[in-house]
Amino acid sequence: MNEDLKKSVNEIEFYMQSLGVIEACENIFKWLVPEIEKIDAELSKKAGRPVVEYTRCRIKSAESIVNKLQRKGREITYNCAIATLHDLAGIRVICSFQDDVYHMTRKIRKIKGLKIRKVKDYIAHPKSSGYRSIHMMIDIPFGEQTIGLEIQVRSAAMNYWATLEHQMSYKNKKESGKETDKIRKELKDCAIDIAEIDKRFLKLRKRIEKL
Ligand code: GTP
Ligand code: MG
Repeated sequence: MNEDLKKSVNEIEFYMQSLGVIEACENIFKWLVPEIEKIDAELSKKAGRPVVEYTRCRIKSAESIVNKLQRKGREITYNCAIATLHDLAGIRVICSFQDDVYHMTRKIRKIKGLKIRKVKDYIAHPKSSGYRSIHMMIDIPFGEQTIGLEIQVRSAAMNYWATLEHQMSYKNKKESGKETDKIRKELKDCAIDIAEIDKRFLKLRKRIEKL
């Protein structure tokens, strides 16, 4: 990262802290995590097994904001980050099974006061990389502006793939060449295999439930 970009990181970090973005994101988590836990308790009780494996929250770091703005060819400023990034706040809910992901999503959509702008179903329509997940995009009021919140819901198997793929290649996706193309293709094949295993486990669980 060059000196100019490092300066932008510091500047964005300063504004996020001093203008209350960090605090606002923390308040979003303080509101929504207990709501998600309540839904989990209700669904788990009904299912007689744990439905959510874990929930994680993160506030996008200034460095990651700068990288994303640069990648998208946008102005590298605090204002542009607030106005254009839809995932300054992120909540990830990891469920045990594929059907849990949809049950969880349906319940999250009904949380009182949560206005969901858009839902992306990357399970029904996986990304070209092979990525599978449900994304919900929410604009949380913040003064005259809004803070972009993205809630991702996926199964443990989908998360296993996404975590490894992200570590290995997501950040370098602009690079291309014969070998990178082959790797990309193989990663996608892995996603398909894992999705197949995820489905088999769901079928097995249903057979066991019928015993
Ligand atoms: P970015 O991909 O974040 O620039 O935003 P976007 O507008 O393209 O939205 P999208 O729904 O594609 O991605 C949002 C988030 O989903 C990312 O920040 C990642 O957390 C996750 N994601 C999307 N695609 C992939 C993928 O191919 N692999 C992995 N591991 N994660 C992905
Ligand atoms: Mg993307």
